[in-house]
Amino acid sequence: MPPATDPNRVMIFDTTLRDGEQSPGCSMNLGEKLEMARALSDLGVDVIEAGFPIASPGDFESVQAIARTITGPIICGLARCNPADIDRAAEALKNAARPRIHVFLATSAIHREFKLKMSREEIVRRAVEGVERARGHVEDVEFSPEDAARTELDFLTEVVEKAVEAGATTLNIPDTVGYAVPSHYAEIIRYLKKNVRGSDRVVYSVHCHNDLGLAVSNSLAALMEGARQVECTINGIGERAGNCALEEIVMALRTRADHYKLQTGINTRLLYPTSRKLSMVTGMQVQRNKAIVGQNAFAHEAGIHQDGMLKERSTYEIMRPEDVGIPRTELVLGKHSGRHALKQRINDLGYRVDEGQFQRLFDAFKVLADRKKSIYDADIEALIENQLQTGAGDVWTLVNFTCSASSGVPPTAAVTLKHEDGRTVCEPAVGDGPVDAVLKSIQRGTGVELKVTDYRVRSVTGGLDAQGESVVEVEFEGRKISGRGADTNVIAASAMAFLQVINRVVMRRLHPRLKPTDNVEQEMVPVV
Ligand code: KIV
Ligand code: ZN
Repeated sequence: MPPATDPNRVMIFDTTLRDGEQSPGCSMNLGEKLEMARALSDLGVDVIEAGFPIASPGDFESVQAIARTITGPIICGLARCNPADIDRAAEALKNAARPRIHVFLATSAIHREFKLKMSREEIVRRAVEGVERARGHVEDVEFSPEDAARTELDFLTEVVEKAVEAGATTLNIPDTVGYAVPSHYAEIIRYLKKNVRGSDRVVYSVHCHNDLGLAVSNSLAALMEGARQVECTINGIGERAGNCALEEIVMALRTRADHYKLQTGINTRLLYPTSRKLSMVTGMQVQRNKAIVGQNAFAHEAGIHQDGMLKERSTYEIMRPEDVGIPRTELVLGKHSGRHALKQRINDLGYRVDEGQFQRLFDAFKVLADRKKSIYDADIEALIENQLQTGAGDVWTLVNFTCSASSGVPPTAAVTLKHEDGRTVCEPAVGDGPVDAVLKSIQRGTGVELKVTDYRVRSVTGGLDAQGESVVEVEFEGRKISGRGADTNVIAASAMAFLQVINRVVMRRLHPRLKPTDNVEQEMVPVV
């Protein structure tokens, strides 16, 4: 039910593809964004902030593609308060069934003075013009006074009141720098709701950053004061320390429904698969002890806890793993399992694959089952993730590799790669270790030279025959780009991970992020 008719319904506004995607190591290509947008729609979010259309042709295209294909949730595009941004967002959203333009303008003294060099009057004027222009394109307009949590309350009241008068339908109050604490943030929402004329006509929204680790707490405090939209991201990704984590706020509202008496439209059983999907497409894993979706979130180690759990789960468990979609069974399939069993397990794990992907998965599963006696859920997830990440649009694919490493002799590798134009390359290389040799051979073959800033390998399950998952991170044009791969051979996993990085870099070179060229004195770099 929409919040307008149910006062206890909280709208979940997901900004994984906008604020989240801006953060280091989280960039996604068009196919990956579409894949995530589908997952978010299945999850039941109310709004998908699909991107910042003026930021680059790539951002524009992904907002456009999401607007064309995803029909359930509202699709939102971000714009600064200037005509070029707003018109570009409207153009990208043209085919959306339910479009929203989100305009923002900084209001705090610090931003007015140092970043925008604008007076209070100028800010109000531009905010009003921005909202009016957006309303000229769509009915659903959200206004955000950036850095609201550090804005003087009297001025904040004035700006948002004028934005409401100009036609804003949602008022978002960002804590852009993660400065607020729960009582302070709650007070801002309470004050605005009471003093802004027209408050009853708009939905109050919250957008909290996690610099002090308080994004979820601040958002909850604001909901207690009547905010009814939360802006959040899967796994809490986002600028710096990230945004409010979607899975955490949703499960807090659900688990403590006795206290908050609020509901969301989220299918919580898809929280874990959606979290995994994001980790897979970005290569950014969540920490082991991350609430709700971390590997340890439901693990009980202490003997006294285990004993209590065996007697009665609720002694130490406030949520059930299956409520968030963490698979119950551990040991699942083996060499003799058939297509049906694998298909069922993939569905149970919350993944959606098409027939072609399933066939490739089944082939990969059979190969793995020959190498490994027991196939666990984590193994299947790793296979799915390998499949989903090697997508359409990859310029380079791995054909095969050889690599030798023995004591006293420098390791060598020769990786054969195929370009999308049909040619194959193979440039042998010597390295400090076998992985280094493989990465060097790939760089030589593709002609893409990169500095690796991080390299990690972890075991997907226990046992010596376990698959190894490798994550490689590089820095390219000031942004972190990462890739992942999994295989029982960790060198193959590393080659897959690095090749994913290379494909991302090649795509970025083909479709660079441009600086917007509007003539407004606002900041020119599209990073917010
Ligand atoms: O953090 C912020 O202020 C933002 C706005 C664009 C809402 O991301
Ligand atoms: Zn933000």
